[in-house]
Amino acid sequence: MIHVEHPLLKNLVTKLRNINTSSYDFRKYLSEVGRILLVEALKNEKITLKEVETWVGKGEFPVLEEERYVFIPILRAGLPMLDGVLEMMPMAQSGFLAIKRDEKTLKSVLYYDRVPPLKGKTAVILDPMVATGGSLDYAVKTVKQKNPERIISLNVIGAPEGLQKISENHPDITVYIAQIDERLNDRGYIIPGIGDAGDRAFNTE
Ligand code: URA
Repeated sequence: MIHVEHPLLKNLVTKLRNINTSSYDFRKYLSEVGRILLVEALKNEKITLKEVETWVGKGEFPVLEEERYVFIPILRAGLPMLDGVLEMMPMAQSGFLAIKRDEKTLKSVLYYDRVPPLKGKTAVILDPMVATGGSLDYAVKTVKQKNPERIISLNVIGAPEGLQKISENHPDITVYIAQIDERLNDRGYIIPGIGDAGDRAFNTE
C-alpha cells in the first residue's frame, strides 16, 4: 500500500469532510483526488516511442498506451473518480462493478458486473472508501478472475482494519490511498471519514 501524502490531497480531503460541501463540489473533489492518485500510480510507467509529425518535422516521442488500461469504478461512489481519470486518459477502457453492503451483516453483495476482458491489461479499481475492506476485497477477487496483467487500486480514505485486510488478502496489488483515518464505527463507517460517499456525491440519503 502506498499512502500518497501531498498538501493538495490533504486540502481536498478536508473539503470532502466538510458537511457543507455541495454534491456538485463533492464530486469535483473526488474526481481531483482520483487524478492526483493516478499521476502518482503511473509515475514510473513504461512509455513507448511513437512517430509524431511536429512543427519542426517528424520525430519519435514518448506515448502512454492508454488502451492498455481499464478503469473500474465501484458504483456509485467510484463514478466521480472515473470522470477525473478519464480526463487524463480518454482512450482508456472502463468497466463497471456494483457492490453494495448489506447494512445488517455489513457483507458485500455484487449486483452488476460489466467489466470487459482484462487479459494483458492494467486494471485500475476506483473506490473512494476502504472501510471494512469488504467491497474492495470482493472487487479485486472479481477482477482477478478476468486475469489482468496487473491490478492497481485508487482510494481516497481508508480505515486501518480495511487496509490491513486488503494487504493480507491481495499482496499482489498496489493500493494508492490519500488518507488513512482512525477507525470504523459500529455501523462500519469511517471515523472521522466523509460520511456515506455515494449519498454525498449523488445527493441522496
Ligand atoms: N462507505 C462510505 O461511503 N463511507 C464510509 O464511511 C464507509 C463506507
